[in-house]
Amino acid sequence: MGKGVALATKRFLIVTGKGGVGKTTVCAAEALALAAKGKRVLIAMCNAKERLSSMLGSELIGPDVKSVAPNVWAVNMEPEQALAEYGMMALHSKTLFKLLFDNKYVRKFFRAVPGMQEWTLLGKAWWHTTETRDDGSFKYDVVILDAPATGHGLDMLRVPKIILDVVPPGLLRRDAERAWKMFQDPETCAVVLVTLPEEMPTTETIELAKALREELRLPIGKIVVNGVLPPLFSKAERAALEGTEPVTGDTPADAALAAARSRATRERVQAESLLRLSEELPISPSFLPQLFEDAAQPSAIRDLAKRMV
Ligand SMILES: Nc1ncnc2c1ncn2[C@@H]1O[C@H](COP(=O)(O)OP(=O)(O)OP(=O)(O)O)[C@@H](O)[C@H]1O
Ligand SMILES: [Mg+2]
Repeated sequence: MGKGVALATKRFLIVTGKGGVGKTTVCAAEALALAAKGKRVLIAMCNAKERLSSMLGSELIGPDVKSVAPNVWAVNMEPEQALAEYGMMALHSKTLFKLLFDNKYVRKFFRAVPGMQEWTLLGKAWWHTTETRDDGSFKYDVVILDAPATGHGLDMLRVPKIILDVVPPGLLRRDAERAWKMFQDPETCAVVLVTLPEEMPTTETIELAKALREELRLPIGKIVVNGVLPPLFSKAERAALEGTEPVTGDTPADAALAAARSRATRERVQAESLLRLSEELPISPSFLPQLFEDAAQPSAIRDLAKRMV
């Protein structure tokens, strides 16, 4: 099993995993860690219920790119606006675009095309990697895509390949080809899988890694196990605690035993999950601790960022 790759040399990071496992938290911490190395970072969210601004202590993040921390920018991409930007670019004319896009049948058509919404978001995130400054250098060294949760995330990543398979040659396909080439290249892109040390997220992560490798052939660069507890008990102590009778009394000693039992169970599940992940995934995971303060605030994100390697 190899180690995770260095993310600082990549241009595009795709952060994905099951719902609620800490994807946005990892995007925020990773962005601060990369910015501290001097990288200009853009975090692109997919029409999310926006929580990143409280994590970074910035103003609310909408569909226009905004500066959220030194060397960090963020955008909450929205399908209609992304499509409008794309259409305008493709047609090289605002008037022509307005003529077409203000037509409700055209809008309806776009909404009905399977994958079009996903592509407008994924395509826009990719397009930000191509943006340049006046001196010709890239506007952002790295774009971090805060991808939708597993399932939806995979659906989104399948779209460029579908476009390559079914769309006739033209601008849309040319961009999809360029984007797909970048995503598949381990030199430029890395998928970051986020999970928790629990049974269901572990199973889903192993399946997701398989789909990424075998079906999509996208490079997995890093696996982050979030919410890891420092073990209090040895394996033997865990077994002893879990072997005790369920607590029925209500003395302080009973309460302490009940708490110890449930902690022992959580630690056992964590140990089993970490073992499964290390056995079944191509690279060894990195860990983020379970914080006992509100993690959606800048001090916590800065703390997590220091642990990102
Ligand atoms: N290591 C941690 N310790 C404590 N709380 C955490 C930790 N990581 C994340 N959280 C909290 O868990 C919640 C979910 O995290 P986050 O929003 O990053 O997940 P997500 O995968 O982006 O969720 P969604 O699928 O809804 O987008 C947030 O309230 C966050 O502050
Ligand atoms: Mg999120």
